[in-house]
Amino acid sequence: MNILLTGGAGYIGSHTLIELDKAGHSVVVVDNFYNSQPEAIRRVEKIIGHGVTMIEADIRDREAMEKVFTEHKIDAVINFAGLKAVGESVSKPLTYYETNMNGVFVLLDVMRKHGCKNFIFSSSATVYGDPAIIPITEECPKGQCTNPYGWTKSMLEQVLTDVQKADPEWNVVLLRYFNPIGAHESGLIGENPNGIPNNLMPYITQTAIGIRKELGVFGNDYDTPDGTGVRDYIHVVDLARGHVSALRAIQENKGLAIYNLGTGHGYSVLDVVKAFEKANGLKVPYVIKPRRPGDIATCYCDPAKAKRELGWEAMFGIEEMCRDAWNFQKNNPNGYES
Ligand code: NAD
Ligand code: UFG
Repeated sequence: MNILLTGGAGYIGSHTLIELDKAGHSVVVVDNFYNSQPEAIRRVEKIIGHGVTMIEADIRDREAMEKVFTEHKIDAVINFAGLKAVGESVSKPLTYYETNMNGVFVLLDVMRKHGCKNFIFSSSATVYGDPAIIPITEECPKGQCTNPYGWTKSMLEQVLTDVQKADPEWNVVLLRYFNPIGAHESGLIGENPNGIPNNLMPYITQTAIGIRKELGVFGNDYDTPDGTGVRDYIHVVDLARGHVSALRAIQENKGLAIYNLGTGHGYSVLDVVKAFEKANGLKVPYVIKPRRPGDIATCYCDPAKAKRELGWEAMFGIEEMCRDAWNFQKNNPNGYES
């Protein structure tokens, strides 16, 4: 298929670009490099052995999007473009609502005009709030999000559901990601956060390499086996493969389909620290800190639906995730600048 990959220079997008290429799809990337660098695309080109069609544009720029659809035949859109920093979304709610919501509105409108009605959306486990069921199935009711970023995901899921209901020609796949970590095995691409990392794994790798003094573990008094937060970490390459599999739902004209993309295993913060130390023969100094506002105790999924309907399941375990995250960090101590 001909795929438009928005946000394709980002962390999940760059890995998905490789998997789409491997599966024989033809891909056009749109990215405004707000949170990524052209170097990521150059490295993907090195991995796949040929050039990538890369258009620098903002998905909210209607004229630019019209041009993309006029110049390229697009069968489906996978949308990664958007802002994702949870803390920043609390201080800049309008920026988050405007960017994430408007971006999808413009895309949907231009797609409709050009007769392309296949859309895969990057949603998040955050839409379940503090989940009512563990492991979380897709039937678990959506919950209260704790920040504007999360609400953009929850609200866009509703928008996309309504659009599909109003016009059944649309195929919409809502993919609810759990916690993507790790990197491509080449060590050429990986997670490259700006400034102080918000997420656990980049904080661990930056501590291991000496950029950060120690990891702060946010709370050890949760109702979990060791008191620290439990999450469903998934290798980013498995997550990327999930998008290739999701195209199956589009080819089968499923209408609206929702899938959890996780491994089904929950690991605590201390489990991840130990797994990282074991996989890489390193020590990660840490201190226990107070709970982080908005965090929940436990979040892991039941991934059976994706296996049953898409034939997808995660292949990599926590060791590979830790090994590959470190491989990227040690080969790129200053991210893509090195
Ligand atoms: P990322 O920031 O690395 O990638 C997003 C990409 O979109 C970046 O390259 C950025 O430059 C680009 N972009 C941002 N706004 C844009 C715009 N208006 N027009 C064009 N390009 C724009 O993030 P990621 O971790 O790869 O996440 C990809 C998607 O998956 C995001 O929508 C994110 O919310 C969602 N998601 C991520 C996680 C996670 O833990 N990483 C979890 C759940 C959902
Ligand atoms: N944590 C620490 N110290 C840190 C960072 C995180 O102890 O420095 C802990 C958190 O308290 C939590 C766990 O590590 O228990 C994971 O935290 P992350 O910030 O890595 O991930 P979250 O589960 O909080 O959220 C992530 C994304 C969200 C997304 C969610 C579900 O940041 O955008 O996964 O997909 F919605």
